[in-house]
Amino acid sequence: MVVLPYHELKVKDYNEPELERIIASSQTEWFNYHNFLTASLPLDLLRKDEFYNQLYNQYPYQAGIIKLPKYTCYNWHKDDTRGVCINMLLSFKGKGHCLFSPDRIGSLDSHGFIELKYKPYKRYIFNNQVEHMVVNFEEDRYVLTLEFMDNKYKLSFENLLAGITNGNYMDQIAETSI
Ligand SMILES: [Fe+2]
Repeated sequence: MVVLPYHELKVKDYNEPELERIIASSQTEWFNYHNFLTASLPLDLLRKDEFYNQLYNQYPYQAGIIKLPKYTCYNWHKDDTRGVCINMLLSFKGKGHCLFSPDRIGSLDSHGFIELKYKPYKRYIFNNQVEHMVVNFEEDRYVLTLEFMDNKYKLSFENLLAGITNGNYMDQIAETSI
C-alpha cells in the first residue's frame, strides 16, 4: 500500500474571513521565517474553530500565514525542524503546485513526484520530512500553516495522523454530510 505524504482531514471546512483581511491589510507585518514571508496569527483566532481548539490541547502549536510571491519556486527540501504540519491553502486565483517526491534521494536530477491538490477550506496533514517543493505562478500564494511545539524528533506525520484519527474529538467535529 502506498502511503501518501499528506492526508485530507475529514473535519468541518474552515472559513475564517479574518484571514483574508490579514492578507489584504497593509498593516500586516511579514517577516522572514525559513525563507518564507510569514505573518503570525493570534492563537485565540484559531481557537474559535473547534478542531484547532481541541488540537491545541493535545498538540500545542503556533500558527501563521506563509506567503510565496508570484513566479517563485521553493526548491526541493525537507524541513529543518518540522516533522509534520497542518496546512490549508488560502488563495486559489493563480496557478501553483505543491509537489512531493518520496523517491528523491540526495540531489537526483530526475525522479517522480505526486501533487497535493489543495481544495478550498480543507485542511491537510503534511509530511515535512518527505522531499517537497512549491512552484508558484502569476499570483502571490498564501497558506495557513501550523508549527507544533514538538519538533521532528518528537512528533512525526504518522504519530499525528494516528493521534488525530483516533482522537475522540473527531466524532464531534466530523465533516457533516449533506
Ligand atoms: Fe517545507
